[in-house]
Amino acid sequence: MSWQTELTTRLGIKHPIIQAPMAGGTTTPALVAAVSNAGGLGSIGAGYMAPDDLAGAIAETMRMTSKPFAVNLFIPQPFQIDEERIEQANARLDVFRQELNIERPAPPKHYAQPFEDQFETVLEAGVAVFSSTFGQLDAGRIKALQDHGTCVIGTATTVDEARALAEDGVDMIVAQGSDAGGHRGTFMGSAEQAMIGTLSLVPQIVDAVDIPVIASGGIMDGRGMAACRMLGAAGVQMGSAFLTCTESGAKPAHKTALVESQGRATTVTRAFSGKAARGLTNRFIQHMAPIEATLPDYPVQNGWTKDIRAAAGKADRDEFMSLWAGQAASLARSMDAAELIDTLVREYDACVEQ
Ligand SMILES: Cc1cc2nc3c(=O)[nH]c(=O)nc-3n(C[C@H](O)[C@H](O)[C@H](O)COP(=O)(O)O)c2cc1C
Repeated sequence: MSWQTELTTRLGIKHPIIQAPMAGGTTTPALVAAVSNAGGLGSIGAGYMAPDDLAGAIAETMRMTSKPFAVNLFIPQPFQIDEERIEQANARLDVFRQELNIERPAPPKHYAQPFEDQFETVLEAGVAVFSSTFGQLDAGRIKALQDHGTCVIGTATTVDEARALAEDGVDMIVAQGSDAGGHRGTFMGSAEQAMIGTLSLVPQIVDAVDIPVIASGGIMDGRGMAACRMLGAAGVQMGSAFLTCTESGAKPAHKTALVESQGRATTVTRAFSGKAARGLTNRFIQHMAPIEATLPDYPVQNGWTKDIRAAAGKADRDEFMSLWAGQAASLARSMDAAELIDTLVREYDACVEQ
């Protein structure tokens, strides 16, 4: 591939293509290893993983590839446990539970995994790349990772966030445009004010910082990659495109919904988790919309919708699932991850030759 950048040289990878971390079971060791073995950079989305499970996933991935891969965590943010808001949300969620024949569960024992232990697990494992979203990793931890030879990547959705991450000392920045599928990484100001499309965001961040910038959001094929190179990106991070790969652990109904999403709208919603995230519009989102502004905080809402999402996944009821998808998700293809990487490289080269 004719696109060699600081991302490829620093990590010793063949192509500047990062398979996005996708927490919640999508980024199986098989997917991550297949991407890395094919010359890209696979990423384990570990935000929701218990430390022991994370250690297991890292070990399994290391058994399947000797190439670099990334582990991604959520930087914890303060949150309130507001019983009134929880009751109001549950009253609406009970409608879904009735249809799925499940009872309202007991309150979750904890709403988030212990970040300190997750972080120690990553540090000890000595992975090639650590990436994070939802906030800023403290300078001490950034340095600890770098001392272990780990490349540190932060996620920004605005120029101010990118500047702050660069000042913290991260090695690279993912510029996440508002087209992106899944949760918004916004950590300064409101998610609404940080809705900047990839085409607008990437060149502004490239001009604002002196470290490599990785474009993310709405990139599905070689055309998108070539466009990002023109904007000054050092590589791309693609989520929706890898979600439909054979090795992805996404629910079959989710994969089908993406591949068949031609003309279907996406919505940025807090309905599933309490944090703004983009997914295909469905009944769940529409039914929760009237109380969107007073839903419990992330990750409290996430804890209370877990039973519904799990039951819906088992029953193949995509109207109750979080169908995370970027705005270009209808370009998704069903194929093995290695085949997708080969296809992307061919498409990119053809595009640049033209
Ligand atoms: C199902 C799904 C889960 C995601 N989970 C994470 C995550 O755990 N950590 C993260 O940094 N980004 C996560 N993202 C966002 C991606 O890193 C990336 O910004 C996004 O997928 C890019 O948009 P695209 O889907 O149009 O390629 C997720 C995206 C999707 C679609």
